[in-house]
Amino acid sequence: MSIIKVNNLTTKFGNRVIHDKISFQVNQGEIFGVLGGSGSGKTTLIKQIVMLQEIQEGEIFFLNKNISNITMKDSLEIKNNFSYLFQFGALYSFLNVLENIEVMLKEYTNLPIELIQEVALTNLKLVGLKEEHANLYPSELSGGMKKRVALARAIAIDPKVLFLDEPTSGLDPSSADQFNELILNLKKMLNLTIIIITHDLKTIKNTLDRFIIINDANIVFNGDITTALNKNDIFLNDFLTIKKDEKNGY
Ligand SMILES: Nc1ncnc2c1ncn2[C@@H]1O[C@H](COP(=O)(O)OP(=O)(O)O)[C@@H](O)[C@H]1O
Ligand SMILES: [Mg+2]
Repeated sequence: MSIIKVNNLTTKFGNRVIHDKISFQVNQGEIFGVLGGSGSGKTTLIKQIVMLQEIQEGEIFFLNKNISNITMKDSLEIKNNFSYLFQFGALYSFLNVLENIEVMLKEYTNLPIELIQEVALTNLKLVGLKEEHANLYPSELSGGMKKRVALARAIAIDPKVLFLDEPTSGLDPSSADQFNELILNLKKMLNLTIIIITHDLKTIKNTLDRFIIINDANIVFNGDITTALNKNDIFLNDFLTIKKDEKNGY
């Protein structure tokens, strides 16, 4: 069943067309990838889906509800289903790990503080951190641990759909592998639909069920990695191989 449907979405900045009538669907329970070169409109697309950026032309549906023209009240209700980890999404440096995870819970729920702390602690453990990390400050954490805390913060509000914008960028290869594994486990445990913007070939190969590639404002591919590689298409092979070389040159 499709949980998100994008129909003929067109986005322009000045004279520049970023999306030219693009259409695709994301199915419930999928780990879905959004791929494309730098500046191809990936982040803009995700921000439009989570209603942080205006939809200029075309339509986006969440669970069959048209989010391009809904009331404020409905939009708040729908927003409660989304959680995101944006590129460079930083932790609050003046809050410790547990307090960082509590931020969303305090903002979006009316739970008593004891319960908030309990939920935060549960989520801390879900992302593979330990109770002893709870009182550390972001400056005391490795890059991989920071990402885990940000992820714990995002899943703490129990979203239906989780959006991750380049989650493994900046991580060393082994931390990136561990993060990818964590994503797979979380999906299974929490019954999430996950949408990932990535150019990490390992993520593309091992984590994504399906992906789209945006190029020149259009979707030039929509399918899984096996289909992409079996096509023997010069652009697709180049796109996926160039990414591999970048990775090897780490
Ligand atoms: N609010 C905005 N106003 C003008 N230009 C923008 C805006 N947001 C993004 N852009 C431009 O649109 C293009 C796509 O941006 P973005 O979606 O961030 O790409 P990506 O995430 O694929 O790297 C870029 O050229 C960017 O500079
Ligand atoms: Mg981006």
